[in-house]
Amino acid sequence: MDKIRIRGGNRLNGSIQISGAKNAALPLMIVSLLTPETLTLSNVPRLADVRLLQRILQNHGVDIMIAGKRPGQNGQAGDVKQLSARTIADTTAPYDLVSKMRASFWVLGPLLGRCGEAKVSLPGGCAIGTRPVDMHLLAMEKLGAEIAIEGGYVIARAKDGLKGGQIAFDKVSVGATHAALMAAVLAHGDTVIDNAATEPEIGDVAECLVKMGAKIEGIHTKTLKITGVTSLHGAEHAVIADRIETGTYAMCAGMAGGDVTLKGANPAHLGAVIDVMRDAGITVEAAAGGIRIYRNGNGLAPVNVETQPYPGFPTDCQAQFMALMTRAHGTSMIRETIFENRFMHVQELARLGADIHLHGDTAEVRGVAKLTGAPVMATDLRASVSLVIAALAAEGETMINRVYHLDRGFETLEEKLSACGADVARIAGA
Ligand code: UD1
Repeated sequence: MDKIRIRGGNRLNGSIQISGAKNAALPLMIVSLLTPETLTLSNVPRLADVRLLQRILQNHGVDIMIAGKRPGQNGQAGDVKQLSARTIADTTAPYDLVSKMRASFWVLGPLLGRCGEAKVSLPGGCAIGTRPVDMHLLAMEKLGAEIAIEGGYVIARAKDGLKGGQIAFDKVSVGATHAALMAAVLAHGDTVIDNAATEPEIGDVAECLVKMGAKIEGIHTKTLKITGVTSLHGAEHAVIADRIETGTYAMCAGMAGGDVTLKGANPAHLGAVIDVMRDAGITVEAAAGGIRIYRNGNGLAPVNVETQPYPGFPTDCQAQFMALMTRAHGTSMIRETIFENRFMHVQELARLGADIHLHGDTAEVRGVAKLTGAPVMATDLRASVSLVIAALAAEGETMINRVYHLDRGFETLEEKLSACGADVARIAGA
């Protein structure tokens, strides 16, 4: 298994190209199940999760082609993928694939919508809490599906096709909103989804669906109104920039100091993150085609943060912000309200010298004057990148083990950071 070695202390100067959003690319690829025509997606990030989903979709009969580079195309641009689900060969998503990536469960909605049946493995254990799928199943039932759970699989049937319905979620779920939307577009009649998640990735998927012929009102709001259509057609769509990757590199620059421009980043999707970074004493400004971050000499101020659904502070940036706060001049309180157990990075940050105490869903982070490099273990995607941030400011060498977690969600992280002057290297595993 590969490792990442970081020698801390270098400032970051330069620019980093932000990739397409993982959390938009995955559901957009799943959308391809809804039409026999070709869906062409551009700016698709090159990530382990994307490759895994590709295998899952191929198992359902989706043909996937990666288009060659276009003349004059920037070498850092994402892939262009053409996905064609002319016929659905298999409506089963097996355990060995779904258990590796939770988002693959989201094939349930489109398979039901297009084929009237689906058998999808329950995702199983997950490093960041129980993460149930009850809201997904409720949404499918409201659209007329019959659901049974047998042998670890959800077996869903809608013999005469799905029917429009009223779906009112009692809490905000990104995945359940995607599932409900993808199922409702091909249902007979009208659907209303109340208390829908408003994460920009959902808006991106909805806009792609509209290009494919879907009828959706209220995109980017908490109430989505869908009028079902009998079929969808092919379309071309570019994946939005990854706001979590953007927030992560912004925090890398805030931690290490220096002056970095994040190219292709969309500041409109990062309001809450930008606000807390500014409160911490980091300068964040809109720059031509992206965001500029700099911090020169001044220390970091402590800031209290609570994770919330969009447009609040994202849970996917919580670990990274905690890493930043380990070096603040004072104590910050970081509360995680979305997922239980999303504090696995705390023990690893402590190995670098961080002073963090957990009180239920809140971490009390007492800033320290110095972090020191050590061997650490990546535990999940966002936790692992928090270790990168801490290591950038730690004295000496940090070796991050189990880097496959990072590769699930960060494209060429070591290249992007070293181009700005960080001492980061990938050490190939035996
Ligand atoms: C998505 C993101 C993930 C992000 C999360 C919250 C992708 C691929 N993943 O995950 O990176 O951290 O949103 O922004 O986009 N819940 C239920 N029942 C359900 C579904 C969810 O109780 O049926 C709960 C979860 O346990 C959690 C909360 O709802 O407490 C939010 O989870 P959800 O928004 O569904 O997360 P994901 O879609 O899995």
